[in-house]
Amino acid sequence: MEIDNIRYRVAVPEDHEKVIEFALQALYDAKLPKFAQDVGDELIERIKSGEAGNVIIAEDLTAGNKIVGYLEIDSNRSKKGKAFYIGAIYVLPEYRRKHVGKNLFNTMLREKCKNNEQIRVEALTESEMRFWKRLGFRIHHYALFFNPNE
Ligand SMILES: CC(C)(COP(=O)(O)OP(=O)(O)OC[C@H]1O[C@@H](n2cnc3c(N)ncnc32)[C@H](O)[C@@H]1OP(=O)(O)O)[C@@H](O)C(=O)NCCC(=O)NCCS
Repeated sequence: MEIDNIRYRVAVPEDHEKVIEFALQALYDAKLPKFAQDVGDELIERIKSGEAGNVIIAEDLTAGNKIVGYLEIDSNRSKKGKAFYIGAIYVLPEYRRKHVGKNLFNTMLREKCKNNEQIRVEALTESEMRFWKRLGFRIHHYALFFNPNE
């Protein structure tokens, strides 16, 4: 079900305080999202000095424009002109399954992918996997691990 009154846009440096506030909410999630792990100086630095357009935000216009969803492109892992790597996507729990994630992704496509760049992402859980597959992503490889002491 689609939700009304959500605005999707590219974040600008002036948004950094709002983003920090959002990231702090994400810290309460049972599974700590990657982007919120470095909520201190690193995150502020990335938002302030990062390449323009690397962060897309969703704001609830009926709740004081607070950020409810966030997508970040990892410029270190992206390949110029060839591929964008999504380093993080996070939607506040109470806003999930309302197409906020899908619209964040579509905004990124519209704003960033002007040259048909491929988009890459890693899924760490089954639900993330279902989300990305639903958007049309295909599996590239499987990653495995083995602990000799177990
Ligand atoms: C993954 C995540 C971003 C999805 O955001 P969302 O706004 O809830 O997703 P959408 O509503 O846009 O979902 C689009 C489609 O993906 C599928 N989907 C989304 N979440 C799903 C889930 N938990 N289980 C199964 N399918 C799911 C559905 O088919 C959905 O469409 P539908 O509701 O019309 O059937 C959100 O659940 C989240 O922030 N999770 C925690 C953080 C995380 O896992 N981040 C990924 C790390 S890179």
